[in-house]
This record gives sequence, C-alpha cells and structure tokens, in this order.
Amino acid sequence: MSIPVRTSVNITVRSAAKINLHLGVGAPRDDGFHPLTTVYQAVGLCDDLTATLPGEQDAPWDLRLRVADYIDPGAVPVDDDNIVARAATLLAAHHGVPVRGHIDVDKAIPVAGGLAGGSADAAAALVALDRLWDARTSDDDLLTLAAELGSDVPFALIGGTALGTGRGELVTPLPDGGTWWWVLVPSRDGLATPDVYRHFDKLFPDAPAVPPPADELLDAVASGDPVRLARLLRNDLQEPALDLRPDLGVLLERGESEGALRGIISGSGPTCAFLCESSDHARDLAGALMRHGRTVVLVANGAVAGAHLVENLHG
Ligand code: C5P
Repeated sequence: MSIPVRTSVNITVRSAAKINLHLGVGAPRDDGFHPLTTVYQAVGLCDDLTATLPGEQDAPWDLRLRVADYIDPGAVPVDDDNIVARAATLLAAHHGVPVRGHIDVDKAIPVAGGLAGGSADAAAALVALDRLWDARTSDDDLLTLAAELGSDVPFALIGGTALGTGRGELVTPLPDGGTWWWVLVPSRDGLATPDVYRHFDKLFPDAPAVPPPADELLDAVASGDPVRLARLLRNDLQEPALDLRPDLGVLLERGESEGALRGIISGSGPTCAFLCESSDHARDLAGALMRHGRTVVLVANGAVAGAHLVENLHG
C-alpha cells in the first residue's frame, strides 16, 4: 500500500467583471483622484487565476497569461508592472514573507475595457495567495490592501451589487432584487482610464465637489424591475468617453434601436453595456448586433459573487 504524498497545491480563484449602474463623478480632489458615488454590479464574465507553490528547483515566481481570442495578448504586461505581481508583492510585504507562486491567469475580461478586469485579477491574486501561503489575512486587511492596488479592487473582492464612495474604494453591499441581463460589446482598442478622467475635467471644469447621488437608482435596484432601472442608469464618464470615441455613440444607438432597454458605456469605456429584460431578450439582442457585423458580443448576468475559490486540488 502506498501513502499519498502531497506534492502540489493548486488554488483557483474566479473573479468577475463589473459594470457601473451609476457613476457620479465630482471635481478632482487634491490627490488628483475624483470623488465618486458609484453603484457597482459584478457580472458573469470572469477571469480565473490559478496559483501553485513552486517546486524546490523552480523559480520562486512566475506569471503566465492565457487570453480569450478577442483580447490582444500584447496589451497586458507580465512583468513587475502587472497588477497581479503588485498584489503578490503587497501581500508578501504585509506578512513579511517572500513572494512565492506560479500564477496562471485565464483572461476573459477585456483589457482596458472599463470592466475592471485588472482589478478582478488583483482581487483574485490576493485571495489565492492568501490561501496558498496560508497567510490568513483578515477581511479588513484584504480590503485595505485591495484599495492600495486600485480604486475598483475592493469591489472585486466583495462582488454582488454595491455602493462605492471615496474614490470608489469604500464599498458597501446593497440589496438587489433582480437578476439583470446584460449584453456587453467590447472594443478591440481600449481606452485608458486616466485619459477619460482628464477629458471629463476638460468638459466639466465646474463639476460639483460632491458627486451626484444614486438614491433613486438604489430603489430601482432593490425593486428588481429592469425597465425602471434602465431609465435611471447614469455614467458621468460617458460624455468624455464618447467624445474620445464617437464610434461608440453609433453602437449605443444601434443597440437601443434593436430593442435594448438602455445602452451605456461601462465605467470609463470603451465597452458598451446593454440592459435587457430577460435572458432570451439578451440573446436576441446579441444575435442582432452580430448580424450588424459586431464579432464579439457577450451575454452576462448580474449580480454574481466577488473573488472566490472554485477549486482546491491536492495532488
Ligand atoms: O485607482 P486606479 O488605479 O484604478 O485609477 C486609475 C486612474 O484613474 C487614476 O490614476 C486616475 O487617473 C483615475 N481615477 C480618478 N478618480 C477615481 C478613480 C480613478 O481620477 N476615483
């Protein structure tokens, strides 16, 4: 009889894209960030990150990406600039341990698409490496580390539907009465978030210090009524994004003329998100947009969970 020997541990964490149902933006603060009142929703378009402990002979750290065919592999750095590498360094420093791990990221969330794909990977890295290193980081500390990595990373940890304040990093879960169906249309060429915020400042030099609230929309989210929600969707970055990328306006109009309840730019863009009444409605709309020549049209529903373990194999 042989005794099984534990030779490796794989930890896979799944993390979702987000849409902003409300993105109220105020005038830039002294630190350059914009105060936000935002309502995030995590949707079922996910990246999977798998972390493995290196063997004795292996390099201590390795990061590999595999991307969906609609993502340009060259668009994501795999060096120390990658947000996954930064998450690893930050978590290791927090615990005073060396950075160790072989990481594979399967990316389905478009890059620089306004869907917080990088933030999703950062959140997944924190959760996976915390497990891999048996670091037992408290939830509060994970949220603090997440906020250091980026404004959207704390939300990527908690998922669901949530209110974001501060620069977006202060998150509170919200009651959500619906299953929301979205059609997402990414663009080949991304938009850099800082560019869109800079353009916002140019277009709105008199933006209020306090960002516009989301009270009515919160009621619509709780009601579960997509027709009501559609009317109240708001994104203050939409105008600057459309000014930088007028082609997106044509796409939004096309989606609405094909029956979407409403089309909006997701976050800082360029992904367009169309709210639908049901899964059938979303599939019909996706088909119509594909017939109009869009090659990448994704259907996703929300709200889904934040970064969570999907596999823990002991081999
Ligand atoms: O926090 P994160 O690294 O995701 O932000 C990326 C960039 O987006 C910032 O450097 C800033 O230019 C802009 N930003 C902003 N106000 C926010 C969030 C992001 O101006 N609330």
